[in-house]
Amino acid sequence: MSDATPGRLAGRSALVTGAGSGIGAATAARLRADGARVYTVDMKGEVDRHADVTPPGINAQLVAEAVTLHGGLDILVPCAGVSAFHPLEGHDDAYFDMVMAVNVTAVFRLIRDAVPALKQSRHGRIVTIGSTMARFGDAGLVAYGTSKHAVLGMTRSVACELGPFGITVNCLQPGAIETPMTEQAFTQMPQFKTYWENKAALGRLGQPEDIADVIAFLCSDDARFFSGQGFFVDGAAMQRQ
Ligand SMILES: NC(=O)c1ccc[n+]([C@@H]2O[C@H](COP(=O)([O-])OP(=O)(O)OC[C@H]3O[C@@H](n4cnc5c(N)ncnc54)[C@H](O)[C@@H]3O)[C@@H](O)[C@H]2O)c1
Repeated sequence: MSDATPGRLAGRSALVTGAGSGIGAATAARLRADGARVYTVDMKGEVDRHADVTPPGINAQLVAEAVTLHGGLDILVPCAGVSAFHPLEGHDDAYFDMVMAVNVTAVFRLIRDAVPALKQSRHGRIVTIGSTMARFGDAGLVAYGTSKHAVLGMTRSVACELGPFGITVNCLQPGAIETPMTEQAFTQMPQFKTYWENKAALGRLGQPEDIADVIAFLCSDDARFFSGQGFFVDGAAMQRQ
């Protein structure tokens, strides 16, 4: 984490899912360091509330809990996500449905269910977590690639609908970040890790804090006129052939 900006998010209330690990955990830490009160949710890890974000009704409950605990809701970061390699041939329906349920449907429900509270805020912020995978495709990642394209489309539509209420909505698209999600792939396929290290003009993989710091900026007043964007935070990997 870069130096916190104490007080930048003072008085703001945030809800972060997927906060038990990786990018979500780093985001919760950074938002707190900047002064926000953060309600953290995940199936595992050290969070305020253990929950699976996929059952119908749970997202409304999580929003209600955050509002009750902190007296309102200003910032929403749906970060819970899943990814694994599955070849298309023999790809079972259940895995595809599960990826869509976590990466897309749960994000949609959380945003929808947070709208009344975010409308009350004078600083409503939604940051969805897409991927560079919404720019290209890759073998074995049909479910993940489909889900991240969907998150980008959702972000753009929601930004148009919630703009009149002063709520900004952006989709941060990380490059390859060292988290438990990528750890297994990097171990199984070291060439995959080397590929991403070399592809980034900055010459390294990203760290969760590289993403969290940008999220905190997007949640601040400095980003008040920035909305409806999908953008890469990838060390310029997507700018290189
Ligand atoms: N790591 C990367 O290179 C990378 C790149 C682009 C996008 N992303 C996205 O960033 C987000 C965070 O990923 P990460 O890399 O930190 O991975 P991670 O595995 O470290 O964290 C994801 C968290 O989501 C939680 N989660 C998964 N399913 C859940 C469910 N049904 N209910 C509640 N929690 C659930 C997991 O328990 C885990 O703690 C994901 O949306 C991922 O797609 C990651």
